[in-house]
Amino acid sequence: MYTQAMDLMPKGSDRPSTPLSATEQQLLDRFEARIDDGGFIEPKDWMPEHYRRTLVRQISQHAHSEIVGMLPEGNWITRAPTLKRKAILLAKVQDEGGHGLYLYAAAETLGVSRDELIGQLHAGKAKYSSIFNYPTLTWADVGVIGWLVDGAAIMNQVPLCRCSYAPYARAMIRICREESFHQRQGYDALLVMMRNGTPRQREMVQDAVNRWWWPSLMMFGPPDDVSSHSAQSMRWGIKRISNDDLRQKFVDATVPQAKVLGVTLPDPELRWNEARQHFDFGSIDWDEFWRVVGGDGPCNRERLADRVDAWEEGAWVREAALAHAAKTEAQRQAA
Ligand SMILES: [Fe+2]
Ligand SMILES: [Fe+2]
Repeated sequence: MYTQAMDLMPKGSDRPSTPLSATEQQLLDRFEARIDDGGFIEPKDWMPEHYRRTLVRQISQHAHSEIVGMLPEGNWITRAPTLKRKAILLAKVQDEGGHGLYLYAAAETLGVSRDELIGQLHAGKAKYSSIFNYPTLTWADVGVIGWLVDGAAIMNQVPLCRCSYAPYARAMIRICREESFHQRQGYDALLVMMRNGTPRQREMVQDAVNRWWWPSLMMFGPPDDVSSHSAQSMRWGIKRISNDDLRQKFVDATVPQAKVLGVTLPDPELRWNEARQHFDFGSIDWDEFWRVVGGDGPCNRERLADRVDAWEEGAWVREAALAHAAKTEAQRQAA
């Protein structure tokens, strides 16, 4: 994964409250001029506090989404139908762990520690993509997650490769290459079931598509007119394309893929609009979105509990790594 428009925070809660001094205003002007020129901001450069906080929030929500995103699919590693599918799924889930690692490291360049961010996630105070609070009921869900969820993630993430904050942009370039493999492996798994599978397997794919379609569209975040951070994020080059435009791009790209696959997307209002040169689609249930984001989705509690367990069970690994690092450092100093 996986970002959904990661700007989920109460309106106005991170606005600067005191007026800027003349020096700060000069620094801000220089900072904005660099962004306007298409330049990048590095960790040691001056940046407005609001920019730093916006990035910490977005990158950490993104990192959390990567590692929580390992859980629904990890559930299927032991039950993958063939050795080949198991190896692919294992590699994909490991990639997501790696994405979390790059992103926590990028967030740390902004002056927060990984422990602090993980602590917020485990205390239920941090957001992550709402999509991972839905259950993976059958093997077809694994394919549909690759196709739709990783597909939506790519749409969201490709523009982030040009994000004005350089460490985030660099992390995204590597992540996007891996996401495209994730999307293709999912689509391939579904294609095999649709073309060579039994009627029951084809039904399984259709059922998974029915359950994941709308949550996938929600991954692009709230509509532009209610998205509280979009305008400022666009101004500062953190965000390049609006939530609604990305959602439309995703729908336009996915409809022909569904046709090739032979599945129906569960939206009676989905149709080509010749005048707009885009597909029209039905309205999204935003009440469901906010309910799930707010902690009341089908699997929120289970996901957080699994994360906390994984953290606690992994304590010995962290202790061993720290002990090894201390020993190596002591040996280096003695030499
Ligand atoms: Fe992925
Ligand atoms: Fe990922």
